[in-house]
Amino acid sequence: MKHFTRIADLGVNGVAAVLDQAQAWKRQAPGAHLAGKLLGMVFFNPSLRTRASFEAAMLRGGGNAIVLEVGSGVWKLEDRNGAVMDGDRPEHIKEAIPVLGRYVDALAVRTFGALMDDDADAADPVMSAFRELAGVPVISMESAREHPCQGLADLLTVRERFGGTQKLPVTLTWAPHIKPLPKAVPHSFLLTAAAGGCEVRVVHPPGFELHPAVLAEAQHYARQSGGAVRVTHDRQDALSGSRAVYAKAWGPATAGVAAGEAAARIAAHKDWLVTGDTLARAAGDAIFLHCLPVRRNVEVADEVLDGAASRVIDEAENRFHVQRVLLDKLLEGTAC
Ligand code: CP
Repeated sequence: MKHFTRIADLGVNGVAAVLDQAQAWKRQAPGAHLAGKLLGMVFFNPSLRTRASFEAAMLRGGGNAIVLEVGSGVWKLEDRNGAVMDGDRPEHIKEAIPVLGRYVDALAVRTFGALMDDDADAADPVMSAFRELAGVPVISMESAREHPCQGLADLLTVRERFGGTQKLPVTLTWAPHIKPLPKAVPHSFLLTAAAGGCEVRVVHPPGFELHPAVLAEAQHYARQSGGAVRVTHDRQDALSGSRAVYAKAWGPATAGVAAGEAAARIAAHKDWLVTGDTLARAAGDAIFLHCLPVRRNVEVADEVLDGAASRVIDEAENRFHVQRVLLDKLLEGTAC
């Protein structure tokens, strides 16, 4: 594995291997397996969990990390090919990426999509440029298309609760928000759960479709893993018998929808708020998942987040455990 920016970099067998190793290292930590290694972390967008968990993984592994927040003490970076750079972005990623690659052993990158065109976001232009130009391994901290470390942490949380994920019914449900959000997280839960052999039900209002290329990729993994993927607009159908309910807000699937129009489309579905009644439609032992941050009582009701079924804190912890494994593989640490 040269880079890890998408579930395709691992495949079905690779997903299982990372989760096996992460579970083993939760029982027995690997020690200073990253001694002497330096990770450069480039943030085009804010973070709490991703930043803290990557830094913790490097430092606890005996390595170190440099954090660069683009546009905040670091030059704003232009990423458009052929741009006439007469605006407020004085440096192009074509120089910035290879320069950074000369200083560190690997680069971690967070770069959200523009949310103007689903096809453009699915093509993942900034992350693709990092893969091409860095000269060192690149790991995703969420891009326009996927948030693969989140997907692995999600599936690890499900696996820990039920002992396995083969044929396990799980539901990814759309949730309301105050504004359109990227599709990277729902894409990654879908891809990772399909790779893990889950029976995945995706439910959302009409007009909020995930990207067709990601759905096709998930179907491909499901055929390999013995899982299944089904998309519906019927919440009762999606939730019935489900063992894990994953709530996530995302924006409408329409290229070029104006921000105001997208927000209005979301506001029309406020009744998709995930409540105790929503969860009660799933299996009696169902767990609740959300990647966080979550807007309480907009996306998910307090009673769910504070209830016994919620695993959102475990899920956030698991980011650290899966990333420790991935960093060891990419940085050629001493443990794997
Ligand atoms: N889940 C997640 O990626 O959280 P942050 O945006 O806080 O990093």
